[in-house]
Amino acid sequence: MIKGRIDIELLKRFEKGLDPVNPHKSEIPARIIGYGEISTIFEILVHSQQGLAFKRLPIFRSHLEMDQYEELFMEYNRLLSEDIGIQVPSYGLARIYPAGGNMVIYNVQEKLPTDSICNRIIWNLDHGSIVNLVICILKAMKKVWLFNASQTRKKIGLDSQISNWAIAGGMPASNTLDEDTQFIYLDTGTPLMRIDGIEQINPDLFLRSAPSFLVWLIKWFFLDDILDRYYDFHLVVVDLIANLYKEQKGEVVPLLIETANNFFATELAQFHLKPITLKEVRSYYREDAFIWSLYLALRRFDRFLHTKILRKPYQYILPGKIRR
Ligand SMILES: Nc1ncnc2c1ncn2[C@@H]1O[C@H](COP(=O)(O)OP(=O)(O)O)[C@@H](O)[C@H]1O
Ligand SMILES: [Mg+2]
Repeated sequence: MIKGRIDIELLKRFEKGLDPVNPHKSEIPARIIGYGEISTIFEILVHSQQGLAFKRLPIFRSHLEMDQYEELFMEYNRLLSEDIGIQVPSYGLARIYPAGGNMVIYNVQEKLPTDSICNRIIWNLDHGSIVNLVICILKAMKKVWLFNASQTRKKIGLDSQISNWAIAGGMPASNTLDEDTQFIYLDTGTPLMRIDGIEQINPDLFLRSAPSFLVWLIKWFFLDDILDRYYDFHLVVVDLIANLYKEQKGEVVPLLIETANNFFATELAQFHLKPITLKEVRSYYREDAFIWSLYLALRRFDRFLHTKILRKPYQYILPGKIRR
């Protein structure tokens, strides 16, 4: 459905005229609507591309890598939306082959209204409503873990940060969430899926945007741990709750821990999950915030090396200051 709306020629010109160090100076007018660890999300301000969100992944070094990624991306979206029953935005993929450097895949999604994205929604919610919203997210997550439990070989991973969820149609006018409220999972660009315990995405792809002087370190010490946590319900929920500190809603954290533990003991009793503690959430957040800000600082340093010292092109767009 989205595929037919993507103007490939325009996208080629967009990529060509893009200055990753100063993305706002792009030849074709575009606005950044989100940053991730690897991708940058744009809207292109041209009439025909209105209503589309473009997630740029400049990380591919061969056609085979692109084929594998696309196949996995399709499978992940299909599993979530059809087999598991979690809505995803309509989507399409577009390949761009720049003259030099890595090849690029744009993961194009229907652009959802900014005020339907959950990290925005919680700005205006009282604590009780935030609890309800998190219960809805836990219910959606439960579907994934039930699916995983039903499978012998396949496991699906989920990055359940609050900013990865949107409410279809935005917050209901009544300001209450109920069984019928549909939640949409946005972050399908990192298709986490294991078959017989083997991660299906080529882990090298994650490391492409990492500074070259760190790649071996991350590979040997961290990557498995980082990916493991997306398959562990307890840890995915710790991450979701700790995220509320980043979203400046730290006051609601103790209440959310209580909520999650209740949910673990009742709705998820069959999984025998360890209850979450405040200490755990706090130290998780501190560590996570430290690692990501250190990582970002090292990427900036890498960009500095490339552009100012080595005088080589630098392909990645780095976020500005992140408020924590
Ligand atoms: N389809 C979309 N419509 C509107 N905003 C989006 C869309 N997809 C992503 N965004 C914005 O960009 C942010 C990051 O997108 P996401 O897919 O989670 O990328 P990442 O994997 O890099 O975290 C989201 O939190 C949201 O604010
Ligand atoms: Mg995300």
